[in-house]
Amino acid sequence: MLRENIQLATRDESPAGARFPTTRMRRMRRTENLRALARETELNARDFVYPLFIVHGTNVREEISSMPGVYHESPDVLAREIEEVSALGIPGVLLFGLPARKDEVGSEDYDEHGIVQEAIRVCKRVNPALIVMTDVCMCQYTSHGHCGIVRDGMIDNDETLRYLGMTAVSHAAAGADVVAPSAMMDGQVGAIRAALDAQGFTDTAILAYASKYASSFYGPFREAADSPPQFGDRRQYQMDPANAREALRETALDIAEGADMVMVKPALAYLDIIHRVRDAFDLPVAAYNVSGEYSMVKAAARNGWLDEQKIALEILTAIKRAGADMILTYFAKDAVEWLKR
Ligand code: PBG
Repeated sequence: MLRENIQLATRDESPAGARFPTTRMRRMRRTENLRALARETELNARDFVYPLFIVHGTNVREEISSMPGVYHESPDVLAREIEEVSALGIPGVLLFGLPARKDEVGSEDYDEHGIVQEAIRVCKRVNPALIVMTDVCMCQYTSHGHCGIVRDGMIDNDETLRYLGMTAVSHAAAGADVVAPSAMMDGQVGAIRAALDAQGFTDTAILAYASKYASSFYGPFREAADSPPQFGDRRQYQMDPANAREALRETALDIAEGADMVMVKPALAYLDIIHRVRDAFDLPVAAYNVSGEYSMVKAAARNGWLDEQKIALEILTAIKRAGADMILTYFAKDAVEWLKR
């Protein structure tokens, strides 16, 4: 009988007798300590990567109007930021740069003294142990705002690969631990791996933006990074939000090309994709809780419609529950403070 009961409980094939009133799910929800013991998913500081937007100049710290609490910062201000992030126990940052000048071929993207390259050196000087990740893409750097080289009004995939390779190498040379290609060019992970290895950067890891959707959730970011495309949109290279199986193909290709980690982006409206990628592959999975997901919560909280802290932690917990090993989020610093309470 005992054995039968155990089997019933584990297999969840309980006949009527083992259900209510014998089984009461509320028993384990009675007190906070019971809930804590039964909890399946718990956030902590080690789950987060904090994205930062770096600009030229000194003493610059300007709030991005579409993303309250997120700033454009110059390298000297970044140094203080890195101390703060490190003290909170957040293991990594993701750097985005706003160049001094934009041109057709995004020259500052792969300039040894470009804004991101300088920012990497600042991070590593302040805390060598902090994981410095960089976004490898061209849209912030090109005058046309597209993620690659434009030929006859089209984004030239294969030509762009060379530029992405140069950019990744320049980031690695400045000290980046992880490069994160987000241009959604075919073959970009393989091209970057080959470029890094050819220059001796065999230990620089690649976090592939494997399934990056053509999403309207990036709206606030385009103001933050000053990167809207000047013609057309990104649907020729980013994924159709309607597709899930295609995400598995994209991810498999990036892994075959040498990705060390794979990302799903955005996160909140794509929890099914996170879950499917988690189930299908064994690599670390990252999820990007993008600008629009952040700004929606901020706006609603400002109106008194939602409790910012509770909503943000619920969203982040859901992203982790779906299968993310790490979450790139603008809430990272606040979330760590909230989790201490
Ligand atoms: C660059 C890039 C974008 C984001 C990250 N890297 C914008 C885009 O693809 O249009 C979006 C991040 C966010 O919304 O927080 N290609």
